[in-house]
Parts: sequence; C-alpha cells; structure tokens
Amino acid sequence: MTPFLEMRGVHKRYGGVVAADGADFSAERGEVHALLGPNGSGKSTLLKVLTGVVAPDAARVAIDGRPLSVRGPRDALRAGVAAVYQELSLVDELSVLDNLVLGVEPARRLGFLDRGRARAAARPALDRFAEAFGGRPPAEAPVRDLAPGERQLVEICKALVREPSILVLDEATASLRSGQVEVLLSVVRELADRGVLVVFTSHRLAEVQRISQRATIMRGGRTVATVPIPQTDEGELVRLMVGELAAPKREDRRGGPAERQVRLKVSNLAADRVHDVSFSVRAGEVLGVGGLQGQGQSELLATLFGVLRRRNGTVRVDGADVHASSPAQAVAAGFAYVPGNRATEGLLLRRPLVENLALPSLGRRSRLRLPLSRARELASAREAAVRVNARYGSLDEPAGSLSGGNQQKAVVGKWLPGRPRIVLMDDPLKGIDVGAKAELFDLVRGLAADGAAVVLSSSDDRELTEVCDRVLVMFEGRVTGELSGPELTEDALLASALQVHGNGP
Ligand SMILES: Nc1ncnc2c1ncn2[C@@H]1O[C@H](COP(=O)(O)OP(=O)(O)OP(=O)(O)O)[C@@H](O)[C@H]1O
Ligand SMILES: [Mg+2]
Repeated sequence: MTPFLEMRGVHKRYGGVVAADGADFSAERGEVHALLGPNGSGKSTLLKVLTGVVAPDAARVAIDGRPLSVRGPRDALRAGVAAVYQELSLVDELSVLDNLVLGVEPARRLGFLDRGRARAAARPALDRFAEAFGGRPPAEAPVRDLAPGERQLVEICKALVREPSILVLDEATASLRSGQVEVLLSVVRELADRGVLVVFTSHRLAEVQRISQRATIMRGGRTVATVPIPQTDEGELVRLMVGELAAPKREDRRGGPAERQVRLKVSNLAADRVHDVSFSVRAGEVLGVGGLQGQGQSELLATLFGVLRRRNGTVRVDGADVHASSPAQAVAAGFAYVPGNRATEGLLLRRPLVENLALPSLGRRSRLRLPLSRARELASAREAAVRVNARYGSLDEPAGSLSGGNQQKAVVGKWLPGRPRIVLMDDPLKGIDVGAKAELFDLVRGLAADGAAVVLSSSDDRELTEVCDRVLVMFEGRVTGELSGPELTEDALLASALQVHGNGP
C-alpha cells in the first residue's frame, strides 16, 4: 500500500555540511508521527523540504501517491501542508487575529478581499486554545505584548487556520509550560482523529510517548528507524537517537548543600510583574523557578540582573547589599545571565558565529582598551563552543545556520564566562537533545559544585526535577509554592502550578 506521505532520498548540503544524507520518511493519515534525533541530525531540514522552505539537492516526495513538486511554501500550502517552525514568523505590530489571516488565500466577495470574513473564520482556531491563554484569547492584542509561549500558540493557530491535511510542528512545545502543552496535545489528538497527519519534533520524550503512534529516528542526516511508540520505551528511544552512548544518568543529589553559606538572598523584591518575592540560594545549590507560562519568572531574573528596574526589596550577595541597576553592575557583583530567547537576546543570527561566541571577550577588550586579535577571537569562540559541545560547520558562518538546539547551546556557551558567583538562567535548555542536555546539566551542576548559586527558570518540569535541588513555583508574579526533596516531582509541580491557577479569580 502506498503511504499517505512518502519522502525518499532527501539530500541537502550546506557548503561542507551534509544536513540530509538520503533520508526517507513516510507516514499515514490520522497519525501523530514523531521525528526524533539529536541536535543537528537533519529533522528541521527534512521538514523544510516537505514544506518548501528549503530546496533539496535531491528528493522524491509524494502525497497520496501523487508526486509533489514544491518550489516554495505556497506550493506546499496548496498541497495541504502547514507548518510551525522553531523560529517564529509572527509580525509584532499586528494583532493576533490579523497575524492569523496573514498570507491565507484571502476570502473574496464579489472579487474584493474580505478581511472581516477571513478574521471571523480564524476565530474558532483561536478559541480552541482559550484555556491555554487563561480563558480569553487576546485576539486584538498586538503580538508584541504576548509572552513567548503565547506567541508559539498563535503560531500554531495560524497553521490550523489553513486547515491542513498535514500539520508539521517543529519543536512547537519547546517554549510552552505544562498547562499549555496539555491544551496543545488535546488539539493535536483531535486533529488526528479527523484524519490529519501530524508530524512533530520534540526533545521532550515524555510528550512524544503520550501523543504519538509512531516515531522515526534520524541520525547524521539519515533515517535510522521507524518504531511503534506504545511498544518502545524511553530508554530504547534514547539509544536509537544517540547510538551506542548510554542514556543520561540520573543521580540523586538531594539535600546536598544545606550546610553551605547563603550566597544570594532576595527579600521582598518588587518590579514590573514581580511582587514581594523572597528566597535565598546557597553556594552549590541549584534553585529552580517553575509555574505556568509567563508568571513573572523571566522578569524576576531580569530584575536581579539589572535589566528591569527594581521597585522595592533588597538583594544580598554573600551578605553585602547589591543594587544593580544595569547588567554591567550585576556582572561586577558576580552575576552571570543566560537569556531565554535566543533569537532576540541570545545571538545575532545573521552575524558570524565567531563574533557571537567571542562577544563576552569583546566586552573585556573594550574595558581594557586593547584590541583583540583575530587569533584570540577565534580561540575564545572555539573554547566557548567546545565548552557546550556545539556542533557547527565553520565559525565564519552566520549563527543562524546552526540547528535550533546548537544555537541554544551557543547561547549558553556565550553567556557563561569564567567563574560567576551567581548564575541566572532563563529557560536555557529548550530544544536541546537528551544527550546534550545531560552534558549541560553537568555544566550547571559543575558551576554549582565550584561554589556558584544557580537560579534556573525552566518551562520543562522534568528538567526542574532532574537538575534542581529546590523549585519555587510562581503565579502572577508571586512565589506561591516551594518543592524539594522527595516532594519534587513532575506531578507535584504541575499540581502546584495549577492549584493556585484554579483558585484564582
Ligand atoms: N541555513 C543553513 N546553513 C548552513 N547549515 C545549515 C543550515 N541549516 C541547517 N544547517 C546545518 O544542517 C545540519 C542539520 O540541521 P537541522 O536544523 O536540520 O537539525 P535538527 O535535527 O533540526 O536539529 P535541532 O534538534 O537542533 O533542531 C546542522 O549541522 C546545521 O548546522
Ligand atoms: Mg531543528
């Protein structure tokens, strides 16, 4: 029988980098099919060939047995393929609804564009996600005002408005927090029940196992296996993804640093979207910050780093009052900060990798007023890349040419200089594959072991349970819960995040 979607011999090379090396992929109608593989294994490339964003060097693609020749995204859309990518494509200044109808073959009446009708038709797609927006989808709000997870949801709605028969979700859950993920998963299930083929990539294997029927695993630009999900456990998936390497070990390190000194003490901190937050972190401790999407987690970290203005409260580092009103002052007080949004804060995507990775050293140069030689710049960039094990073709290529996960690794490498006393990380591990995540966990734990106090915000509850000693749960800018020791489980985190939500106004 011919599969509904069939891709054969997909080849794509970027200069010296082979992104797809003869990959095959096939899937059926009504199926949720996961595409798995380490960072840089070619998943996005394969999907972009299907959606017409990337022109392959060679590929045969057929839908329903009919050969498909896509010369651009419009051709793919016409064939019923809609996609959501790792990098977002919304227009900041337009409202949510206007973004949804942007680029849809416009509804026409008597030959005129009918915006009103297009907007009305888009509305149901948005309403399906109402719960994930806390009840009221912000239809008329400009996209610029939305939190990252909300933008991601709008992006997904935009794909749904196109009523695809194949929906491609590339890391669509990476910036969503647990409550929103639930809503998305139920929409996906509903689409599949109606016969839509949903192909999705995710590095969160728990999600993959809950939602998909089959998974295809890629490695080094090739497809290595297609397996039925209910019969394949997580260990096996990891083994297929990373080859012979063992799955990341989970060590139990609970209750370690209780006797060490308090490094960071925050009392009654207030800022935009942060209300009366108090906590302390000891040297050697990793403190997590969780909760639903957009509850002030990012603002809390940005305030500590002097990016947002502090309105009230005190911050003590090793017992001394610190009032950082700029990042430079925060750095001087021993803080390091890894920003959450690689596209806007983390990397200059169009600039060469070497410039991106050497940026912190360039800062050093301006202080000392010494020119940094090209050789030093290269060496420093290389060191940063090695530190986080980022895979790239050449340091002269733009940062945007790295795979999504490798870009994220570069952000971490770039923003973690020498030996900071306090490390603030804003959801730094999204989109990073299981193997690399284990390495970065080690890096974070290593910083703590060297005596740093680490504050890590994460949208992934599993990550919080695996890497943190203790987790604060935030809701509407306040700390509403704290979990540690045996209490610190994914279920408890979700319950704690939702409980307040349910009891709220
Ligand atoms: N525009 C580009 N220019 C140069 N190289 C590229 C470009 N796009 C992708 N690559 C390279 O192709 C390889 C495959 O990348 P791809 O984005 O398909 O990986 P991926 O499996 O989606 O990874 P991730 O899990 O990190 O998103 C990587 O080595 C990447 O650096
Ligand atoms: Mg990708």
